[in-house]
Amino acid sequence: MTISGLGIVGGGQMGQGIAQLAAGAGLEVRVVEANRDLLQRALEGVAKNLDKLVQRGRLPQEKKAEILKRVKGAQGLEELAGTEIIIEAVSEVEPLKLEIFRKLDSVVPPQTILASNTSSIPITRLASATRRPEKVIGIHFMNPAPVMELVEIVCGLKTSPETFQKAQELAKSLGKTVVEVKDYPGFIVNRLLMPMLNEAMYVLMEGTATREAIDKAMTLGTHQPMGPLALADFIGLDTCLSILETLHKEFGDARYRPCPLLRRYVEAGWLGKKSGKGFYTY
Ligand SMILES: NC(=O)c1ccc[n+]([C@@H]2O[C@H](COP(=O)([O-])OP(=O)(O)OC[C@H]3O[C@@H](n4cnc5c(N)ncnc54)[C@H](O)[C@@H]3O)[C@@H](O)[C@H]2O)c1
Repeated sequence: MTISGLGIVGGGQMGQGIAQLAAGAGLEVRVVEANRDLLQRALEGVAKNLDKLVQRGRLPQEKKAEILKRVKGAQGLEELAGTEIIIEAVSEVEPLKLEIFRKLDSVVPPQTILASNTSSIPITRLASATRRPEKVIGIHFMNPAPVMELVEIVCGLKTSPETFQKAQELAKSLGKTVVEVKDYPGFIVNRLLMPMLNEAMYVLMEGTATREAIDKAMTLGTHQPMGPLALADFIGLDTCLSILETLHKEFGDARYRPCPLLRRYVEAGWLGKKSGKGFYTY
């Protein structure tokens, strides 16, 4: 593969997973977080995930050290200037992402590809914050990134075929299977998944069934590996709400209206597994 250096902006669940995956495949990875403490938490998160693999006998100890050596923190976006592709994986908040793209565009060389891991925000819109829209693309990893096979690649209206080739090359070198998707909100996975998770929340809010019954019904009744409420907790309830808001706003269709119960949980800071409480307690 010709790509050797990867920059990641945002070291939350997805940023950590992508860093682990890429470093495991031999790439040099630099991660930027919002501040030093969060950067520290991100690097420790990658180490903890690798520890779990070592404990389960799925990764030799010496390999862990080798992978960790390839994941380095960076104090600012300008330190990503030496990487060939940068993947933005900050929170699913449009103004924040636009700001990151604007800043990246001004501090990294014009040939660097700027990718987003966004779940729902149009790539063409993120590209419009830069002077290199042909080099902006969506590379949407699934959670957990090291485990899930699929990557959705989303070209904006101005994304060049060369940028698509490079993104595809990166995803394949990380062992992923690629599907190409047009630039419409939610792409494939979240367009189909989010209405189901949202409806499960309505079923809970209306008292039709308990959370356990809802999740049991969907795991045992439709062979899904996780129930919708457990899955929403795993994704992050703030992320689910942001995706639904984007779908609702973009399509103007009531079928995407976010469940009020979801809004209340996010307002209460109950964001799911990452905050220790969501529909379940962790
Ligand atoms: N959670 C999922 O299942 C999933 C799956 C696929 C894609 N995504 C997408 O990936 C992105 C990240 O999601 P996540 O689940 O990792 O969220 P998260 O809340 O776990 O992490 C987001 C991270 O962004 C960081 N951040 C915020 N502002 C920043 C800034 N200015 N500079 C650098 N870092 C900053 C936060 O500190 C946080 O660590 C979102 O766009 C989301 O839609 C999420």
